[in-house]
Amino acid sequence: MTLPTPRRPDHEIDPLFVERHSPRAFTGEAVPEAEMRRMFEAARWSPSGYNSQPWRFLYALKDDAHWQTFFDLLVPGNQKWVAGTGAIVFLVSSARMRVGDELKPSYSHSFDAGAASLAFQLQAIRQGWHAHGMTGFDHARAPEVLRVPEHHRIEAAFAVGRKVPEADLTEEQRPREAPNGRRPLADFVMAGPFSTPAE
Ligand SMILES: Cc1cc2nc3c(=O)[nH]c(=O)nc-3n(C[C@H](O)[C@H](O)[C@H](O)COP(=O)(O)O)c2cc1C
Repeated sequence: MTLPTPRRPDHEIDPLFVERHSPRAFTGEAVPEAEMRRMFEAARWSPSGYNSQPWRFLYALKDDAHWQTFFDLLVPGNQKWVAGTGAIVFLVSSARMRVGDELKPSYSHSFDAGAASLAFQLQAIRQGWHAHGMTGFDHARAPEVLRVPEHHRIEAAFAVGRKVPEADLTEEQRPREAPNGRRPLADFVMAGPFSTPAE
């Protein structure tokens, strides 16, 4: 596979990491529930502080009883492209973890949910789908609409679908689908303590 220049890693890694990206051109294909379960299963095996597994995934499949409710929470800019996807997911984390009989504050609930989110996204790629993360949703309304319990945080939303192959992109879609790159390792990896002023 020839990767476009911005997507070419500087060191040898599993291609999965650069194949994962966030398309906005989706075919409209529905995502079968069984496919979603495999993605949630991958997330299930993520590491977490004290194995507390603080992630909670709420999902709606295209045109099911929850789709419109989830869709309406997204900002208009996201609704435009999410209309072409087949599933919407809200990832919530629990800020409390059970230690024996007690519920204690978790230091790492958001970090743990982030790990689960990447497992979910990479498994989607392995299955031939793409997951696109979003914080562009109504932060004020979402907790109530989604009945998010106390001490929980909505971390992000995701839309999952089948991406339009590059050859089939319209002229209008093409610029929005241009692959992006990354800062070099030298910008964010330091041998020892912070050695240059942080941005
Ligand atoms: C937490 C999070 C929130 C994001 N929010 C949005 C969003 O609201 N709308 C959008 O179109 N993309 C959103 N993105 C996608 C990012 O812009 C994208 O991941 C980033 O530009 C890197 O590109 P890539 O995922 O294609 O490698 C979000 C990504 C993450 C991880």
